[in-house]
Amino acid sequence: SLRVLSGIQPTAGSFHLGNYLGAVRQWVALQETHDAFYMVVDLHAITIPQDPAELRANTRLAAAQLLAAGLDPERCTLFVQSHVPEHAQLAWIMNCLTGFGEASRMTQFKDKSAKQGADRASVGLFTYPILQVADILLYQANEVPVGEDQRQHIELTRDLAERFNGRFGDTFTVPRPYILKETAKIYDLQEPSIKMSKSASTPKGLINLLDDPKTTAKKVKSAVTDTDTVVRYDPEGKPGVSNLLTIYSTLSGAAVAELEEKYAGKGYGALKTDLAEVMVDFVTPFRERTQQYLDDPETLDSILAKGAEKARAVAAETLSQAYARVGFLPAK
Ligand code: TYM
Repeated sequence: SLRVLSGIQPTAGSFHLGNYLGAVRQWVALQETHDAFYMVVDLHAITIPQDPAELRANTRLAAAQLLAAGLDPERCTLFVQSHVPEHAQLAWIMNCLTGFGEASRMTQFKDKSAKQGADRASVGLFTYPILQVADILLYQANEVPVGEDQRQHIELTRDLAERFNGRFGDTFTVPRPYILKETAKIYDLQEPSIKMSKSASTPKGLINLLDDPKTTAKKVKSAVTDTDTVVRYDPEGKPGVSNLLTIYSTLSGAAVAELEEKYAGKGYGALKTDLAEVMVDFVTPFRERTQQYLDDPETLDSILAKGAEKARAVAAETLSQAYARVGFLPAK
């Protein structure tokens, strides 16, 4: 079967709704049909300063949330990036194949380094996308389920896979992005022109999955819409309402057209009240399950240890092929 690989950063606090709808939800579905590898990318996390104890805690928290969201260690390989040293090793080779100008064009780097101040941004932040390339190519992934903001990094991965294959002989699978149109970009509830994100969102516009459900309901009810009253999916003209419809539709399984019909003549208040309920019904058990995994760190760590073992078997095989192709002298 086809292989998928994806990763998520161990952010402080909790994943947000954009992470879930844009990526993790697809990961859960794809473990049923694909050979699936998912990881918590702690190497990527340290491209910006991290407190060591917090990083450790956030890495466990991320894994707990992925399990709570429905990843099943029997159906997928769930691991922590730093447990598999081959990621850093292949990243070095990929660094040496990437042009300086090519790396400079990565828009996420430009955004993030601008925010930090160019002098304070680390070289790690600059090569961040190249580590991501290594993550993907190590597993010979066919598809990479992510949100729209990762598309450029997948393009870079394709370019570097083709470059390596062209120069040294067929070694890497050239992966495709797996980006669902409907949920590729979930927007801030207060500013529906920007994507929902930990760093850019307003606190009221960001739905943290582990927030108190009451807070979440309140955020939904105070979401920005428009001065019209018609519930209609129209991302250009009605970005706020359209975002709410996307979220509602995805979480409830009802088609957007059905929802438009259901709220015809009822206005935004009814839509928001019902969506708040749908959201609370989703986050309440998610929170409980996450806590259960956190309460049992031994089980959690052993799931991650088994995942790392499975991941390493695949990664080591690919890395040794790449080392041989590049011309490194075998160590024996
Ligand atoms: P990260 O941790 O920022 O985000 C995890 C996933 O969530 C998606 N996402 C969104 N999708 C829709 N709407 C939003 N508002 C939204 N915000 C975030 C992201 O697109 C992502 O899929 N560089 C990656 C992690 C990574 C990775 C990899 C991914 C490292 N190595 C290899 C795939 C393959 C990142 O920082 O994601």
